[in-house]
Amino acid sequence: MDIPKPNPFLRPKAPSALRALRSDGVSTVFSGIEHESITVGKGTILFDPANIYRCTIGRDCTIGPFVEIQAGVVIGDLVKVSSHAFICSGVAIENEVFIGHGVMFTNDNWPRATCIGDHGPRPKGPEDWSLVETLVRYGASIGSGCTILPGVTIGKNAMIGAGSVVTKDVPEGEVWVGNPARFLRVVEISEDFNVAATVVPTP
Ligand SMILES: CC(C)(COP(=O)(O)OP(=O)(O)OC[C@H]1O[C@@H](n2cnc3c(N)ncnc32)[C@H](O)[C@@H]1OP(=O)(O)O)[C@@H](O)C(=O)NCCC(=O)NCCS
Repeated sequence: MDIPKPNPFLRPKAPSALRALRSDGVSTVFSGIEHESITVGKGTILFDPANIYRCTIGRDCTIGPFVEIQAGVVIGDLVKVSSHAFICSGVAIENEVFIGHGVMFTNDNWPRATCIGDHGPRPKGPEDWSLVETLVRYGASIGSGCTILPGVTIGKNAMIGAGSVVTKDVPEGEVWVGNPARFLRVVEISEDFNVAATVVPTP
């Protein structure tokens, strides 16, 4: 595999964090914020700046700039996450998924800043809300600017049109668009895939 040359405009902000990752011997990483405790597969590139917390990212992924990935997220191999995406705790993303620019995942169905404490309102803590998990299956693609509501599963090879709001499960191999996202049509394997995706067998 050709290792890309470092871009001088993408210098790490925290050299110690970069060294910590390289000591694993697994990744080419041009970043440095909050990366000490993440697990990254070989060939994956993270662009700076990004907020990447305690998560797992597979091999040969590209994570664009201005992305936030929260603790506990699991991302498979060959995944592309475009700039400005927000991937919150509770999200799992399988291999070869595409996440468009500015895609927003969510994990709390009834978000509130506060709850009632003994002496009036107090900030909500981790114990005051329930995290709802979301799954993006193998080969799915989420267009730019989508919002994915908590708890949905986006099926294998599904395509979500740009700007959609996904409120319910999207079945395998379907194109959904709009707010709320609705079925548009079935994915056509020969015309809607590039060659590489077509020849890779579905696991
Ligand atoms: C959904 C998508 C894949 C196109 O599918 P398609 O089958 O080729 O769709 P068409 O362009 O033939 O449009 C079919 C209908 O869906 C509508 N439509 C297409 N994309 C839509 C979207 N994102 N949201 C809402 N409606 C959409 C069209 O307006 C059209 O409606 P009409 O029949 O009433 O005129 C594409 O529009 C899309 O959103 N791609 C994602 C782009 C993106 O985010 N890329 C990220 C990297 S740059």
